[in-house]
Amino acid sequence: MRACLAALAGGLLLTGGCTEAETEQRLAEPVTVEGDAIPAPLGGETGDAARGRVVFVDREQGHCVLCHQVDGLDAEFQGNVGPALTGLGDRLDPAQIRLRVADAQRIWPDTVMPSYYRVYGLNQVGEEYRGEPALTARQIEDLVAWLAALKTEGNEDG
Ligand code: HEC
Repeated sequence: MRACLAALAGGLLLTGGCTEAETEQRLAEPVTVEGDAIPAPLGGETGDAARGRVVFVDREQGHCVLCHQVDGLDAEFQGNVGPALTGLGDRLDPAQIRLRVADAQRIWPDTVMPSYYRVYGLNQVGEEYRGEPALTARQIEDLVAWLAALKTEGNEDG
C-alpha cells in the first residue's frame, strides 16, 4: 500500500511527492515513520511494562524522571521540565509514544528531550564510527509498553 504522508510539523519535508512511507535514516536502525508514529517495534522487540518502569526511573538507563513526573510512581525525585506523563496511554498510542521516545527532536526540533534512538553523523562517517543510541531497542520497547499502559482509569502499577 502506498501512503501519502503529511510532513510533521517541523519535521523533514518529503521530496518527490507522495511515495511510500518515509524510511528514517538517522536512527540506530532504519525505521518507517508514518505520520507522527513508528508503527513497528524497534529491533523486533516485545516490550515489557515492568522493565519499562525501571528504565524510566533508573539513572543508569532512561532516567526520564529527571524531566517527567507520573502520578503514583514510586521514585524519589520527579522533575517537571517536561510534561507530566500521567495517563499518557489515554492520549497516545504505542506507535506515537515510540517515535517520541526514539526521536523527540523529529517532532519538536528545539526540545531539550534527547532523541534516545538517534545516532549522529550516519551519513558522514563509516558504519564503524557510528555512535550507539542512548537507549537500546529493547529499553525503548519496554518504555513504550509501560507508558502506553498509563491510563487514568484503572491505573496500572505506577
Ligand atoms: C531533559 C528533559 C527530558 C528528559 C530527560 C526526557 N524528556 Fe520527555 N519530554 C521533555 C519535554 C520538554 C517534552 C515536551 C516536548 C517539548 O515541547 O519540548 C517531552 C515530551 C515527552 C513525551 C510526549 C508527551 C506528550 O504529552 O505528548 C513523551 C512520551 C516523553 N517525553 C517520554 C520521555 C521518556 C520515556 C524519557 C526517558 C527515556 C524522557 N521523555 C526523557 C523533556 C525530557
